Amino acid sequence: MIVLGIETSCDETAAGIIRTDETGQGRILADVIRGQVEAHRAFGGVVPEIAARAHVEVVDAVVGQAMRDAGLGFADIDLVAATAGPGLIGGLLVGLTTGKAVASAAGLPFRGINHLEAHALTARLTDGLDFPYLLLLVSGGHSQFILVEGVGRYRRWGTTIDDALGEAFDKTAKLLGLPYPGGPEVEKRALTGDPKRFAFPRPLADRPDLALSFAGLKTAVRLAAERTHPLDDQAIADICASFQAAVADVLAIKSARALARFRAETGSDSPALVAAGGVASNTAVRAALSRAAGDAGGRLVVPPPRLCTDNGVMIAWAAAERVAAGLDDDPALTARPRWPLDADAAPLVGYGRQGVKV
Ligand code: KG4
Ligand code: ZN
Repeated sequence: MIVLGIETSCDETAAGIIRTDETGQGRILADVIRGQVEAHRAFGGVVPEIAARAHVEVVDAVVGQAMRDAGLGFADIDLVAATAGPGLIGGLLVGLTTGKAVASAAGLPFRGINHLEAHALTARLTDGLDFPYLLLLVSGGHSQFILVEGVGRYRRWGTTIDDALGEAFDKTAKLLGLPYPGGPEVEKRALTGDPKRFAFPRPLADRPDLALSFAGLKTAVRLAAERTHPLDDQAIADICASFQAAVADVLAIKSARALARFRAETGSDSPALVAAGGVASNTAVRAALSRAAGDAGGRLVVPPPRLCTDNGVMIAWAAAERVAAGLDDDPALTARPRWPLDADAAPLVGYGRQGVKV
């Protein structure tokens, strides 16, 4: 089966094409990603309206490029998929409409895909991982532990009760006058910093559950920056290193707890911890997770950075997995800004007007 996947939920316009064989393994035929960092830089974060317009401008070209890279025509495609949520509504509508239009014009079936599910299943494409495994998704919009039991079978064990981790990196960077996106910049500065100079909190580390929180840490960073004013390069580096150390500690503690639960509930004595999302490319974070996985008798699996962050390949792959699993999807599916993976579960934090909050 050959699947075209389109992703436009945040600030990446992406199209990927994969081919799956009879054994269910997938091969990447095209992987085109067009970022929008320049369009948002002046604002220090993603501006939803600017993102939507930027997607409209390039989505045709991105899909066209993917088709050329794969050397295929639409007649060769078996299925079209696009991210239907969660994400920024304007961008979602652009990708979803494009996907449905392509499918309709070419007489092909269409599937709307949950972006989180696509992140959750990527490690099966890249590493041939078997179910079940534990996923830690840490991106600009999400921070959650998910038990992945099978295709379409996810249980959210813990989530952030306030900011996403990537957001905390970005806000820390902004506060210190570092350019957007902040994550890679904080990591770079931390290299020459002293992680012990500032004693930042390890939020919720002493709570027995898997909830995460980063808003308090962000405030601690702001207070430290104000106290240390004026900030020289060394102070900035020390704050970055201390912030990153706090983050790595919290993730290691919570991951150890999640892995213990995984072992207890699944009976597995060699658990796989999969890390995905932009923050998973942080070396200190990976080292902490790798230690936690090793201590639990398991291993850390991190897909290559290009497939860890937003891309079209993972959307195509998730669609292929859902078809292979015999899951029937609603072709009329519309964009869903909020779409938790375990939609039927009780809310971990609470309900907003539009449903489960996080
Ligand atoms: O997964 P992603 O590309 O997009 C979504 O949010 O879906 O994640 C982007 C986030 C940004 O907040 C960025 O600052 C963060 O991931 N990030 C990092 C690093 N690279 C990207 N955070 C820490 N260290 C990094 N090396
Ligand atoms: Zn994402």
